Amino acid sequence: MEKNENQKVQVDPWGNTLVEDYSRLIREFGMQAFDIKDFKNPSTQMKRGLIFGGQDLNIIAEAIKKKKKFYCLTGIMPSAQKIHLGTAAVVDNVKYFQEQGAETYVLIADVESQAVRGVPIEEGKKRAMEFHIPAYIALGLDPKKTKFYFQSENKEVSNLAIVCSQKITENEFRAIYGSVHPSKVMSAFTQMGDILHPQLKTPMPGVIPVGIDQAPHIRMSRDIARRLKSDYGFFAPSASYNKYTSALDGSFKMSKNEAVGKLEIPEKDRGELEKKLKKALTGGRVTKEEQLAKGGQPDICVAYEYCKNHFISDDKILDQMYQECISGKNLCGQCKEKYLIKYANKFYDDFDKKFEKAKKLVGKMKFDE
Ligand code: TRP
Ligand code: SF4
Repeated sequence: MEKNENQKVQVDPWGNTLVEDYSRLIREFGMQAFDIKDFKNPSTQMKRGLIFGGQDLNIIAEAIKKKKKFYCLTGIMPSAQKIHLGTAAVVDNVKYFQEQGAETYVLIADVESQAVRGVPIEEGKKRAMEFHIPAYIALGLDPKKTKFYFQSENKEVSNLAIVCSQKITENEFRAIYGSVHPSKVMSAFTQMGDILHPQLKTPMPGVIPVGIDQAPHIRMSRDIARRLKSDYGFFAPSASYNKYTSALDGSFKMSKNEAVGKLEIPEKDRGELEKKLKKALTGGRVTKEEQLAKGGQPDICVAYEYCKNHFISDDKILDQMYQECISGKNLCGQCKEKYLIKYANKFYDDFDKKFEKAKKLVGKMKFDE
């Protein structure tokens, strides 16, 4: 992220950007802060503050309230046969909107993976069938109500991508993405096709839950939707923005492409998992005495962040962890055993079980084109 106050924040959707100040992002990107009061029965992660901002989410809240048609769409690059916790959090948002009645789309960004990461299309498809699609089902999406598709096979998407490409100038593209590299141009317009194509039959509001790295795509899709309004009647898509998930050392967003310092899904080797969790940065004090006297600092503790945002959905248990921390009841090692390690193991056991079940389903599924 740019640190110079006078410069606009530039988020690179293909790189790593550290976000230090969400309120600044909200300002710079013309987002709105997330207002949980808009949603009648918010998800656990909404309540825990994982969504920090959005665009036109009130339109989605209204559609839910009035039971009007709307859609929710997300995509995944099949560049690795693993996802990280932040991706699981985005899937959780999709699940929420699906439960609220959204027509739900999940696309495999095999075109983008080929263009930006050099993963052959066929290989991307194979990885998605073996991993990403069953993983998304294991994370809670309803396979009967989710339209999965491959970018490379969806003609509506690629044709709409071409229509979209006519609506943006080179300078505008550069201002949004910081580059006009041909592979980025290809994948960005494909993504425009993804985001807008559910409206081809019937224009309707739609929500795209994303991590903040995808903000440039959202911005361009909204510009294009407005410019295509007279021809297609498109609504500008709404978006919800999730906070980054810290790396284990507290430093950074979890990247899909770095091997160290992060939790992934799955974590097959539980011994390794435990080792990683034991290394996670805490908000503990320097000495035992100080910890017992003053308590720990959960608000800067990665162990607490993971439990809060990913592993412990029961409010009572999370509150107990928090209280025990600030009252100095536990040392960090004890706290990790009692909460982080225990509930992370539960999370991963649950995932593995559901994943195996979902894998059997995927063989029998039909995919939309
Ligand atoms: N670009 C996304 C990523 O890096 C994948 C993606 C493709 C996507 N099309 C999308 C995400 C549409 C949301 C909506 O993972
Ligand atoms: Fe974090 Fe637990 Fe230590 Fe508190 S006691 S700082 S929550 S690890």
